[in-house]
Amino acid sequence: MHTSIRIICLLSFTFGMIACGSSKGAEEPATAATSGGDTAQYEGPIAATDVAHGKEVFDNFCGDCHPDGGEDDGPSLIDKPHTPARLRQQIREGSGKMRPFPEKRLSAANVELILAWLASVNAVK
Ligand code: HEC
Repeated sequence: MHTSIRIICLLSFTFGMIACGSSKGAEEPATAATSGGDTAQYEGPIAATDVAHGKEVFDNFCGDCHPDGGEDDGPSLIDKPHTPARLRQQIREGSGKMRPFPEKRLSAANVELILAWLASVNAVK
């Protein structure tokens, strides 16, 4: 019991929710979710560290519209930090002209690799 409460506090702190004394959540509205949904189900630390592999996956799935993270059909992602939860939501749910990437098209492991690369270009906060 004690342990699970600590885990909840840790997760809340890490992802900027207003809990356990964290005030990080106050930064959230500046880059509000374009699809407007709740990101709670997408929370969790980035579960990959292989940036080079992440770039390959990004190039394959995202590079047509965000070439090297820059602008084309989609906006530039570089130096526009979003929370990991917000990025997972954008990938899974899409918005506007960006279609959703369901699990059968893009595995959770590949999403995490993409996030690892995005973190290297200051697209993750
Ligand atoms: C078919 C083109 C296309 C593909 C492929 C695509 N995107 Fe997008 N992306 C867009 C467009 C267009 C938008 C703007 C969406 C809107 O207006 O709501 C966008 C928006 C985003 C945003 C939000 C940017 C911001 O600052 O608001 C992120 C993050 C993003 N895309 C990441 C990705 C990732 C990661 C992938 C690969 C898994 C990907 N995109 C694949 C077209 C694409």
